[in-house]
Amino acid sequence: MTVIQTPADWRTDQDPGGLVQRYDDVRGHTERLAAPLSPEDQTVQSMADVSPTKWHRAHVTWFFETFLLAEHESGFAPFQDQYWFLFNSYYETLGPRYSRPDRGLITRPGVHEVGDYRANVDDRVRDLIARLDDGTLAALAPTIELGFHHEQQHQELLLMDIKHVLSRNPLQPVYAGAPPPRSEPDALGWVDVEGGLVEIGHDPTTQGFCFDNELPRHRQWLEPYRLADRLVTNGEWLAFVADGGYRRHELWLSDGWSRVNAEGWTAPLYWSEVDGVWFEHTLHGTWPVDPGAPVCHVSFYEAEAFATWAGKRLPSEGEWEHAVVSTGLSSTGAPAGGAYHPRAAGPATGGLRQVHGECWEWTSSAYHPYPGFHPPPGAIGEYNGKFMSNQMVLRGGCALTSPGHARTTYRNFFPHAARWALSGVRLADGGAPR
Ligand SMILES: [Fe+2]
Repeated sequence: MTVIQTPADWRTDQDPGGLVQRYDDVRGHTERLAAPLSPEDQTVQSMADVSPTKWHRAHVTWFFETFLLAEHESGFAPFQDQYWFLFNSYYETLGPRYSRPDRGLITRPGVHEVGDYRANVDDRVRDLIARLDDGTLAALAPTIELGFHHEQQHQELLLMDIKHVLSRNPLQPVYAGAPPPRSEPDALGWVDVEGGLVEIGHDPTTQGFCFDNELPRHRQWLEPYRLADRLVTNGEWLAFVADGGYRRHELWLSDGWSRVNAEGWTAPLYWSEVDGVWFEHTLHGTWPVDPGAPVCHVSFYEAEAFATWAGKRLPSEGEWEHAVVSTGLSSTGAPAGGAYHPRAAGPATGGLRQVHGECWEWTSSAYHPYPGFHPPPGAIGEYNGKFMSNQMVLRGGCALTSPGHARTTYRNFFPHAARWALSGVRLADGGAPR
């Protein structure tokens, strides 16, 4: 077993009581998200990118068992010998694993056995934290902290994934709640940003936990630019559709146009047209498209084509981050919570709206390492670094992001054609030419 190693500059809480409380909070949130779902709901895998709810609940448990208990629990024995094979996601260093596209074929262990697995690991983690001496706890705290943030990532994926699962059911099932009242788009405003030589990336000496891909902090040159003060709305997307947006090759990158034709895209992922009216599948059920709410579940290709149609462009990730920091919005890094769908922007503020907690925002930036980036050694080095190819960066956070998880420097990433993530669009203008 490879010992996890974490960057020395990660700062985290090292108080045993505080760690156990946060552990219980994070683990309990996962169970609350799964609670509305039946055992059958939790077993289905509707496409290769989606994982069953039951798998998410087990995999995040495997993470604590593998990276914490296996190394530091005296007399460690796995809860079940084959779980390391079933619930390892992508860690080559840790050995072979079960085929990802076939996760939905696993009916055993069932959801109740997964619950037993979670309870067993929970008891052992609490016991381990209580027994560790101060020095060992200080050394392990970054690993425990990483486990919290890892589980929060899977909480968001659990919701995105079950949304896709439920979308395949013609009975149009509801996960939870009801949609907000219908809204109308307000006028789009713009926020001017001076640019110049700016600093991008996480500052571990003052800003707490981050993933390795947010490091190191470095300088970028930005020409003067402006960002839209809110996200692109469904109403604006309806105009794009009506203007032949999905039929006009001149609006699209070549790879995007190939996808439009190969997959028959005519609208965002969860939209369907019935008797001339567009409906949208949400976790609150299937409802007429709300013109004032942000468009969501569009790919990078669609975001880029829309920007071209609008005579604008997508922001780079550096432009996005610098605009948020320089306009004083970096402290509002948590979504409001309670809604499982992005909400309308509300009244203009003169500044950026919908920065956190509505839709992950596609940027024009490829997901590449920052200058000087080095993944940590060992299995945990596989967490982010090996995915820095053929993906684009998204910024902000979304309505499904767990409270306290996202940050201004957070770099989410998905392939160009991905649509099942809760992704939206913010336009940019000015600055460097395309
Ligand atoms: Fe994972």
